[in-house]
Parts: sequence; C-alpha cells; structure tokens
Amino acid sequence: MHEIKRVGVCGCGLMGSGIAQVAAMAGCDVVILEAVQSALDRGMGGIKRSLDKFVEKGTLSAADGAAAFARIKTTTDVHDLRESDLVIEAVVENMDVKKALFKELDQFLAPHAIICSNTSSLCVVEMAAATKRPKRVAGLHFFNPVPLMKLVEVVKTIVTDDETIQALFAFAKRVGKTPILAQDTPGFIVNRLLVPYLLYAIRVYEAGLASREDIDEGMKLGCGHPMGPLTLLDFVGLDTTYFIAQIMFDEFKDPMMAPPPLLKRMVLAGQHGRKSGKGFYDYGA
Ligand code: CAA
Ligand code: NAD
Repeated sequence: MHEIKRVGVCGCGLMGSGIAQVAAMAGCDVVILEAVQSALDRGMGGIKRSLDKFVEKGTLSAADGAAAFARIKTTTDVHDLRESDLVIEAVVENMDVKKALFKELDQFLAPHAIICSNTSSLCVVEMAAATKRPKRVAGLHFFNPVPLMKLVEVVKTIVTDDETIQALFAFAKRVGKTPILAQDTPGFIVNRLLVPYLLYAIRVYEAGLASREDIDEGMKLGCGHPMGPLTLLDFVGLDTTYFIAQIMFDEFKDPMMAPPPLLKRMVLAGQHGRKSGKGFYDYGA
C-alpha cells in the first residue's frame, strides 16, 4: 500500500478548503485545484482564519499553523495534481462536472493513486465508471465545518477494493477524524437521515407554522442540536441542499426528499445561505 503523502483537492469552496486544511495540518503536501482564481483567494483566506483560530485557542502552535499553510499550493491547471497519491474531489454537486473531472484525472495520475469524491448524495460508482481504476475510487464524505467535525464517511462502492478502503480509513484517522463505513446509496448514512429533516423544517416554515427563529430555537433547546435547521441550511448552502434533495428524490421517489418550492425559489433568487450573504437569515453580503 502506498503511503498517502501528496493530496490533491478539487474545489476550494466550503468543503474543499476545509479538507485541504486538515490534510495539510496532518503533514500532507496539498495542491488545490479551482475553476476560478477568486475562489482560491477566498478559500485560502478561510484556511488562514481557521488556522489562526486554532492558534488563538492554543490547540495549534503558530509554527505548526504556518507550516500547514505553507504546505498548501493552489492552481487552476488540473495537471498540477499529477503527483497526488490521493485526490479528493469537492466541486459542485453535479454528476456531469464530477465525471468529467474523474475522467481527466484518471488519464495522468499514477496507477496507485486513489480518487475520491466528497459528494453528499451522488452515485460514486458512476464516477468510478468514468475511470480505468474503478477499484481505487471511493467516497470520502467530510462534514461541514471540516476542521471541527469529527466524522468521515468512507463510501465503498460495489467495486472499490479492500486495500483502498483500508488506506482511506488510515487517512481519515491521520487527519484526526473518526471514519465509518457507508454503502454507495444516496445520502449514505448521515444525509439519509439529516436531509429529510432539513427539508421538513423548510416545509414547516413555508406553511407558516412558526417563525424561523422559533423553529431554530425549538430544535436547539428542545433537542440539544448545536444549530437549528434553518441556520444549518444556511450554513450548508441552499444551492448544495437543493442539488442533494433533487438527487435523493430522483433515486428514491420519496416525497420526504423532494425539494420544497420555497427552497427552489430561494436558490433561483441567488439566496444560497451564509456564503452568498442571504438565506433564511441575512449575513450582510
Ligand atoms: N476553525 C477552527 N476553529 C474554529 C472554527 C474553524 N473554522 N470555527 C469555530 N472554531 C472554534 C472557535 O474558536 C470556538 O472555540 P472556543 O470554544 O475555544 O471558543 C469553537 O470552535 C466553537 O466555535 P463557535 O462558538 O463559533 O461555534 P459553536 O460553538 O456554535 O460551534 C459548530 C460551531 C461546530 C459549527 C456547531 O455549531 C455545530 O456543530 N453545528 C452543526 C454543524 C453540522 O451539523 N454540520 C454538518 C452539516 S451536514 C454536512 O456537512 C453533510 C453534507 O453533505 C451536507
Ligand atoms: P461550494 O459551492 O462552496 O464550492 C464548490 C467549488 O467548486 C466552487 O468554488 C467552484 O468554483 C468549484 N468548482 C466547480 N467546478 C469545478 C471544477 N471543474 N474544477 C475545480 N473546481 C470547480 O460547495 P461545497 O459546499 O464546498 O460542496 C462541494 C461538494 O461537497 C459537493 O459535492 C457537496 O455536495 C459536498 N458536501 C457539501 C457539504 C456542505 O455542508 N456544504 C458537506 C459535505 C459534502
């Protein structure tokens, strides 16, 4: 089994930036690929702020924080990922975009390299089928915010080999996470439970049954959740949640998974949650 020393990350949004950060904190050399330079600048700014928070809290030394930051390189040229032992894709939740990327990566990565998707809901074996290395393709599903959330779902498709799964369990532990094994079914374990709950919170709000504040306060104080569902939706991204709901509904045809009309309208209006400055709440864009 090859040791994972060099990690490529595709996408420097909410998730890609966090994944790059934890890999660099664990001592890996990281290259982040983005479609646009402005996303790299924004993502690297977020990584710097998060590392600084750990330093302020005393859980990371200033020298280790600076060293982790220096281990991250950025690019808009996919070929700069060629030396990666592991590539983790965290681009937009869209199968065509992901498949095109998997196909391209497969053409120049070393034969031992593993390609993973951080997808929330898409079929991982469909991405594997776009490559000539389906045994070394899996899901590696991190949670938002990546530097703080302790879980990673390692998603085994019907063709992923055991060596790949072992390597990914070891990698997840190395970056300080607890891995659990999930099947390649839409939403895996956590989103299969979480997404219908979040969508139902929108339905409750849309039906005028309660204010957004009371819905959130209800689940925080009544159930001990760290965030209420509408705050969490803004945090995850309403665009991403909308894509996930569509994908899960397409697969299961379960009305609980169907995107509520209000979610669709908010996404169409560019209200994508915290990252766009407005969602269920205002964040002063
Ligand atoms: N990096 C480093 N440190 C950070 C940080 C960051 N990005 N953000 C916050 N911190 C630190 C703060 O400095 C703070 O430290 P102290 O306690 O020492 O002061 C601590 O972490 C807590 O920060 P906050 O007080 O700002 O925030 P909080 O206590 O409300 O916790 C939270 C923040 C961990 C995000 C918490 O609200 C939470 O767990 N929310 C739920 C998140 C969740 O459910 N995520 C899953 C989303 S679903 C998903 O990811 C899957 C999918 O496919 C869609
Ligand atoms: P995001 O919108 O914050 O970031 C996606 C980034 O990908 C953007 O910066 C975009 O410019 C970039 N991108 C798009 N096409 C690209 C390409 N071909 N090459 C390189 N970069 C490209 O999205 P996100 O929230 O980080 O989600 C990314 C993935 O992670 C999705 O599959 C999502 O379902 C999954 N995910 C999201 C969360 C969450 O809470 N937001 C949690 C777990 C998993």
